[in-house]
Amino acid sequence: MTVHIGAEIGDIAETVLLPGDPLRAKWAAEKFLTNVKEVNRTRGMLGFTGDWNGNRVTFQGSGMGMPSLSIYVNELIRDFGAKTLIRIGSCGGMQDHVGIRDVIIAMTASTIATPSSTIFRELNFAPTADWSLLSAAAKAAEKLDAKTHIGGIYSSDTFYDERPDLNEQMERHGILAVEMETAELYILAARYGVRALSVLTVSDHLKTGEALPSEQREQSFGDMVEVALSAAFA
Ligand code: ADE
Repeated sequence: MTVHIGAEIGDIAETVLLPGDPLRAKWAAEKFLTNVKEVNRTRGMLGFTGDWNGNRVTFQGSGMGMPSLSIYVNELIRDFGAKTLIRIGSCGGMQDHVGIRDVIIAMTASTIATPSSTIFRELNFAPTADWSLLSAAAKAAEKLDAKTHIGGIYSSDTFYDERPDLNEQMERHGILAVEMETAELYILAARYGVRALSVLTVSDHLKTGEALPSEQREQSFGDMVEVALSAAFA
């Protein structure tokens, strides 16, 4: 048991999938896992462990933003021994060829700052996905026939953005989408020598203003979970 995760040591699997929304952790566990056990409800940040195709998996909510994700990922790695961590979440499209519901596999995550910025001081560390997970996810997405983009994303600290000029530069430099967690996940994974990846669904688009209606989010979310599970156990 840690400050933010009420699970017993051993309740958390070595493979952890991290939706931002704790209710999505519940939904995914009920849809994809058998022998499901609720392992955390501290602060309502639900976590569930069960089996997928004979493999033990935990779905643990991470909350919104890098400070929140950092708390859960630190405890999952350092106290519970998590070895493979895959964020499954939503993002805002930034390129014309990126559509609503498309899947994004994040190779890198650019940022202005993360909770780790104070460690790096003047260094601009490049947060990068684990290659074995990235290549397995690419293959799984192809098999699933999900429209998928692989490349750089932007991890922002703000959903309500006041820097259109910065978004323009991101777009100009090929950044596919914006979300709020991946850079810190990749940095923590690098620090502790574990594997990390973000598989995302485009829920809204910064250029067109389109947004996915809530009733259609489930299907897209399902594709993303399947890609993440297949990659984890490839
Ligand atoms: N997550 C989903 N859509 C987003 C957006 N537009 N900005 C930041 N995070 C997001």
